[in-house]
Amino acid sequence: MALSILVLNGPNLNLLGTRQPDVYGATTLEQVEDLCRSEADALSVSLAFEQSNHEGVLVDVIQDAKSKHDGIVFNAGAYTHTSIALADAIASVEIPTLELHVSNVHAREEFRQKSFMSTVVLGQICGLGINGYPLAVRAMAQYLEAQSNH
Ligand code: DQA
Repeated sequence: MALSILVLNGPNLNLLGTRQPDVYGATTLEQVEDLCRSEADALSVSLAFEQSNHEGVLVDVIQDAKSKHDGIVFNAGAYTHTSIALADAIASVEIPTLELHVSNVHAREEFRQKSFMSTVVLGQICGLGINGYPLAVRAMAQYLEAQSNH
C-alpha cells in the first residue's frame, strides 16, 4: 500500500494568502494543498491535508493519524511556541513528523524562537515560504522510503 502523509496546519493558516502577505506570501492554503497534492502524486504517496484553529482538534487529528498515516508534516502555527499538548500528541503516536514554518521563525520575535515541537520532530523546515510544504512532503516521503527499506 502507498505511504500516506498527513499535512496538518494549525491556527490562522486558513488565512494564508490574505494574512500578513509580507510575512506569509500571497498563496492561499487551498493553493498550498494543490502544490502538496502534485508533489505527492509525483512521488506516488497518498496525501491528507487538514487545518484547524483549535488545539484539542489538532490533538485529536494527531491521535487519529496513528492508524492512518506514516508521516506528518506539521505547521502548528502559534501553538508551536505554546503547546505541550501537541508535542505530547506527536510523541505519543510515534509517527515521524517534520515541523514546518512558512516564515523564518528564528529571525522574528524572540517568542517565536522557542518551539515545543523541536524535541519530538525529525527536523524543521522554515523560512522558505510556501515552497517549504512540497519540500517537506518530498523529504518525508524519502525518509519513510529509506526506513521501509531497512
Ligand atoms: C508560522 C510561524 C508562527 O510563529 C506563527 O504563529 C504562525 C505561522 C509560520 O508558518 O511561519 O502562525 O508557523
